[in-house]
Amino acid sequence: MAPVAAQAAVAALAPQARYRHIMSDPADSDPAHSDDVHVVFTPSGRQGEVERGTTVLDAARELGVDLDTVCGGRGICGRCQVVPEVGEFAKHGITSSEKSVSSPGPSETTDYRGRRPLGSPDHRLGCHAQICGDLVVDVPAESQVHRQVIRKRLEVPDIDLDPVVRLYFTSVVAQELDTPRSELDMLRDALSTDWGLTDLVAPLAVVQEIQQALTKTRDVTVAVRDNAEIVAAWQGYHDEIYGIAIDVGSTTVAGHLLDLATGEALATSGRMNPQIKFGEDLMSRVSYVMMNPGGEVDLTASIREAIDELVGELAEEAEIDRGNILEIVLVGNPIMHHLLLGLDAVPLGGAPFALATDGAIETSGPFLGINCRDMTRVYILPCIAGHVGADTAGAILSERPDLSDDFQLLVDVGTNAEIVVGNREHLLAASSPTGPAFEGAQISSGQRATVGAIERVRIDRDTLEPRFKVIGADAWSNEPEFADQTRKITITGICGSGIIEVVAEMMLAGVISADGVVDGGLRARSSRIIAADRTFSYVLHDGEPLIAITQNDVRAIQLAKAALYAGIKLLMDKRGIDHVDSIRLAGAFGSHIDPVYAVALGLVPDCDIERVSAAGNAAGTGAVIALLSGEARRTIEALIPQITKVETATEAKFQDHFVAAMAIPHASAEYPHLGSVIDLPERRFTNAAAAGGDAAGRRRRRRPTNEPSQENTQ
Ligand code: FES
Repeated sequence: MAPVAAQAAVAALAPQARYRHIMSDPADSDPAHSDDVHVVFTPSGRQGEVERGTTVLDAARELGVDLDTVCGGRGICGRCQVVPEVGEFAKHGITSSEKSVSSPGPSETTDYRGRRPLGSPDHRLGCHAQICGDLVVDVPAESQVHRQVIRKRLEVPDIDLDPVVRLYFTSVVAQELDTPRSELDMLRDALSTDWGLTDLVAPLAVVQEIQQALTKTRDVTVAVRDNAEIVAAWQGYHDEIYGIAIDVGSTTVAGHLLDLATGEALATSGRMNPQIKFGEDLMSRVSYVMMNPGGEVDLTASIREAIDELVGELAEEAEIDRGNILEIVLVGNPIMHHLLLGLDAVPLGGAPFALATDGAIETSGPFLGINCRDMTRVYILPCIAGHVGADTAGAILSERPDLSDDFQLLVDVGTNAEIVVGNREHLLAASSPTGPAFEGAQISSGQRATVGAIERVRIDRDTLEPRFKVIGADAWSNEPEFADQTRKITITGICGSGIIEVVAEMMLAGVISADGVVDGGLRARSSRIIAADRTFSYVLHDGEPLIAITQNDVRAIQLAKAALYAGIKLLMDKRGIDHVDSIRLAGAFGSHIDPVYAVALGLVPDCDIERVSAAGNAAGTGAVIALLSGEARRTIEALIPQITKVETATEAKFQDHFVAAMAIPHASAEYPHLGSVIDLPERRFTNAAAAGGDAAGRRRRRRPTNEPSQENTQ
């Protein structure tokens, strides 16, 4: 479907009787008997007959070509630039020459006053260049409203720009004594005449702006949203509108500021989520609300304040007026979503995990405490289920597993892992309570991924000696440069990616059995194995502090990874598949996991390692896409209700999958792809029962109930 703004632009200003045929064969026209000329637009390929003397902009409108304009042909905006082509175009059956367009006059040369500079000497203003003969004319990407946005600053896919807000410049006729009309009606008339925009509404706040804008001059620029509502007005010509996409994570809040006209990213910033002071993880924040009447007000106020400050930071970094920010898109997990919107998050803390609302939400920026225009809209992507939120909707919009022929697994690993499995025929989604182990919590030497944290680990299969890398240094610990590079760094602990690698390496080196038991018998072979109470630990860093992987650490990782794997397997069962073709690991943590070790630990099922990859901040990318494209919003709103939600807490088979997945990589599943890239040891179980899937005493991680558990309460 053609975007509405494009339709309006195309419909606007259609000169009477100039339009002859669209997509006609040029041979049908007889130049000797007609004053029509044939024009071909590239790269769209749209072509047709127009009356000689028609401007390129008018011809583009008549033929439905996507050619930008804000000023409506007044030579002010400079957005309608085109490049006439010269040569024989056998494909189109025409010759296009210098004489096919009028010569540039002063308004395109010495007196040029367009806001956007002319790209090069062969660039012409489409609104001024008249077509004098058969013509092939190119519309450069920067002159297309719906161009593809090439992402540079953001590591996200290219996006087809489909702005929900567009600027329109117009001149409103002066009031006359004998026929007084309201300023709003006169503006509506001008927008209808110039742009074909009809039935526009304007809220009171904008009527005030319109009235002020028209006091000194009758020239005005308005911003129109969804082709239906005037949301801002400026005196004279104005060509700046911006939008912000924010991923509201439980740990960090990250945002991007973009130019809504060009799709260009102008600033990126982030900050810690201040709600951390109420609880490290999501459930502890719900517990805070449950145990502190009125606590929800504090949580809501703190995140709203952080978002307002982030908006200010982004505007400052981009050096723009925050009054020109007209759209904000937010994504977040269901609990962040509810706390931000002032909805009760307590029902999300226990079964049946009922959302207050799951549809996409539109509200105003000031309603959420953001210092911006009254009509700045905040759009929040839809939630999928009580544990699968707008952040997952954003990740789906970014990754588009619904367009994949292959079976795709998309997983965002955090304290709750969000999982999406399927292909173009059907998608399923669930979350699995992995707990905070992957973030370093519950691990004796665990820490967040900051300077000084061990992030990569290898263990020699013969000597059992480790080597590792720490954040802040490039060298491995066994390399000569390591000492120099870490002179000013204290090695303080091990972060999530390091934990995954060390446990997987311990399995590969035989330090732990497949059921995760540290082999005390190896003490005779290596001083790295030490006794700790009645179990054993593996010393990774024999320094100050001593960093060792204890039996409990291994157990914590087994519990976390088994919960994730079981959730994935449950969705695969429901989808009726025994494998996935590709795996995308989303989120900050997913971006740092080495795919080989994610598979070796049994975090995810076996898969062609080449097709296991990081997806970056897919949720944030989805927010950017929704910011720049109304079509994308409609797509995700239509897709989400079709996704089957699976509640792992109530699925009996989850328990079986969980128990089998406690083994590393798994009690029974085969790993042929993994075996093709690394040497897998024979699966050896310390406890015979574990081989049959009775590992670790059935300590399944359970979803919290409304009674805050010890585990989830900080
Ligand atoms: S349309 Fe604005 S300069 Fe041509």
